[in-house]
Amino acid sequence: MDKFLIDMLECPVCHQSLDWQIDEQFNDHIEKAEARCVGCNAVYPIRDGIGIFLTPYLPRNDLWEQVESQLTIYLQDHPDIERQLMDTPIDDLSPTDQHFRALVLEERGDFTGSREAEVLSNQNLYTSAYTNCWDSQIKYTLDALSTLDGPVVDLASGRCYLVEKIIEQLKKSVVASDFSLNVLRRDIKLFEFLGIEQHVSLLAFDARLTPFRDGSIKTMTTNLGLPNIQNPGRLLHELNRIVCGTMLAISQFFPVDDEPNKKVIVDAGLDPLLYRLSAIEHFISAGWSVKVENTCVAEALPTPASKLLEGARADGLPVAPTEMEWCVLRATNAE
Ligand SMILES: C[S@@+](CC[C@H](N)C(=O)[O-])C[C@H]1O[C@@H](n2cnc3c(N)ncnc32)[C@H](O)[C@@H]1O
Ligand SMILES: [Zn+2]
Repeated sequence: MDKFLIDMLECPVCHQSLDWQIDEQFNDHIEKAEARCVGCNAVYPIRDGIGIFLTPYLPRNDLWEQVESQLTIYLQDHPDIERQLMDTPIDDLSPTDQHFRALVLEERGDFTGSREAEVLSNQNLYTSAYTNCWDSQIKYTLDALSTLDGPVVDLASGRCYLVEKIIEQLKKSVVASDFSLNVLRRDIKLFEFLGIEQHVSLLAFDARLTPFRDGSIKTMTTNLGLPNIQNPGRLLHELNRIVCGTMLAISQFFPVDDEPNKKVIVDAGLDPLLYRLSAIEHFISAGWSVKVENTCVAEALPTPASKLLEGARADGLPVAPTEMEWCVLRATNAE
């Protein structure tokens, strides 16, 4: 993580300052350090350049050791399935299995092979209207960002699809974040492969309990991060606390009368931000002024079950065909 972040960070639990002990750094990049809270004495480590601000009650060392994803563990236990997934000619795999092959190749650091498999699977998994709507939101966000001040803090960055584009197209510094260390570690390898690692800082934290000081972030983005955060609770209040500027959130909304999808959405605790009206109400009650921009509607179909991995799917939603609305939510702090 970059040194400029030190001035923006605090204890995510008690909001007191942090005492920094830096053990290894490379130019302005901190590789190994410890940040100790002067209030509650919690210690937040920086390892391999990733700042780990998960709550002090979590066993962070164990989490750090847990380097393998569920998919890798499953394939280790089922070597015959692994052989079929990795050795079958790619065109003979189902689109969902092409997607899983891409994930395995990515975990193994074969980013070229992974991207080829991903392109193929996306062509077969999604309608072109769906892909066009998503591309349009990415382009709209990049255009909007070009007029905003950096650095950008990206939330629930996942595989960093948006982060990569912000760095490559806008040459801005980005702070990528996620609550999964596995995901962030894979992201580092991706950035090294792309040769853009010096433009990115990686932080592990839960978006509902962040390590940022009040009003320390001018520009925040998220590519489908908000609809993926279960039981958001006071998430939008927390984001309003730390942002003093603009948040651009690529979002998706389901129709309210779509019962089959609603049941799954509600069971997963995702309903507050996956319906247009509810999302807007949550933003307003958390102190935001919000505009819905660049909307487009596209048919969305359930991704088919894997033929090799016991009914696994690329996406959890939708579970039934639907019309999904895409947009960029532009939120600023209300007066
Ligand atoms: C599917 S990704 C979104 C796509 C991603 N932004 C991109 O551009 O590639 C959703 C991510 O949200 C993360 N996530 C879910 N809940 C979270 C939370 N409470 N705090 C932080 N990250 C969270 C997941 O680990 C996952 O990586
Ligand atoms: Zn503290």
